[in-house]
Amino acid sequence: MAELGVIRDGAVYVRDGVIQAVGDTPSILNWHDGRGIDKIDASGCVVMPGFVDPHTHLVFAGSREFELDLKIKGKTYMEILNGGGGILRTVTDTRAASQDQLFNQSSKRLNMMLEYGSTTVEGKSGYGLDKKTELRILETMRRLDKECSADVVPTYMGAHAVPPEFSGGADDYIQFIIDEVLLDLPSSGLARFCDVFCEKGVFTVAQSRKVLMAAKALGLGLKIHADEFERTGGAELAAEVGAVSADHLARPSDDGIMAMARKQVVGVLLPGTPFASMESDYAEARRLIELGVPIALATDLNPNCWNPSMQFTVTLACHNMKMTPAEALVASTINAAAAIGREKSIGSLEEGKAADIIVMDVPSHAHIPYRMGVNLCSVVLKGGEVAFSAGREGLGAIAAV
Ligand code: NIG
Ligand code: FE
Repeated sequence: MAELGVIRDGAVYVRDGVIQAVGDTPSILNWHDGRGIDKIDASGCVVMPGFVDPHTHLVFAGSREFELDLKIKGKTYMEILNGGGGILRTVTDTRAASQDQLFNQSSKRLNMMLEYGSTTVEGKSGYGLDKKTELRILETMRRLDKECSADVVPTYMGAHAVPPEFSGGADDYIQFIIDEVLLDLPSSGLARFCDVFCEKGVFTVAQSRKVLMAAKALGLGLKIHADEFERTGGAELAAEVGAVSADHLARPSDDGIMAMARKQVVGVLLPGTPFASMESDYAEARRLIELGVPIALATDLNPNCWNPSMQFTVTLACHNMKMTPAEALVASTINAAAAIGREKSIGSLEEGKAADIIVMDVPSHAHIPYRMGVNLCSVVLKGGEVAFSAGREGLGAIAAV
């Protein structure tokens, strides 16, 4: 994870949305003389793969800024949720929203993520819980994928909370998910993955296993919100069911970590979440890396953690989880692509991969986590097309030569 493969005075040659060649500028100019093609001058900048954000809940209605006061007064995430707030508050708002309203609110977030350099974003349902709203969220993601520049990879997360109409009946709700919702998903193409909030007080390991095995039988990839607040056994379950990733991982057991390493389940760490929840327990990234778990980073963008920026996430990963800048950038590009099964087509600058390329207005990669809270991204190419340009003087100037 510490290997970046930096090329000084490098160049990338792109045609038809695909990277044709990457190398030092003289050899790329040997390969193609640069005449008659559009050039982007990124002198003095870092050119890198677009960020991949492999864990977000970007489609929701409303906001929960009022919970800041509760958190400041010491209320925990689970206390807010059990008091009818948290996820359930957003479920009420999201059920009341039309598809257009959901699209308008979510596309603003997705476009901002793109401006901050995220060219592919995973998104989870889970703020509808009933069938019709869950489908509306998944359809909104399909529309976002089509109409916005960033790619959206959809995940069905009906098992995000027990809805009020099933209150006290988590087993019945799990059965409802399996019998009434999951069956239609693979054929509709509306979901690529299935995720579950496996956590004490939400869904047990047994309930999570049941949903995930049903999803697996239907051909969906698997993800788990694992061991976030309590050592629940989510990491072990991820390895057992062959999940592509286990996410959060603030408190996994040693057995769980070893099992993930053996099966190469990607650990998706979300440092924005303890930051937003005002908690001190960040995932132990160093230990997970030492024990051989491939680590990815994600924003977890959701109404509790309104963090659209992978740049801020990388900053938190270095400062609060002691990841090195190189590790944090690997974790937010190629490993993040692996967390959504796309490592063959995106996540690195290599011949044959999609030309999802960003220009960062910094002299070296270590400046990305070092300079906090501002957008360092000056150009975003999505599939070889300029999807965003900050238009700063002299930077990323695009010239037809
Ligand atoms: O990943 N932990 C569960 N789900 C989300 C939070 C959702 C919410 O609070 O609205 C998460 O942090
Ligand atoms: Fe999440």
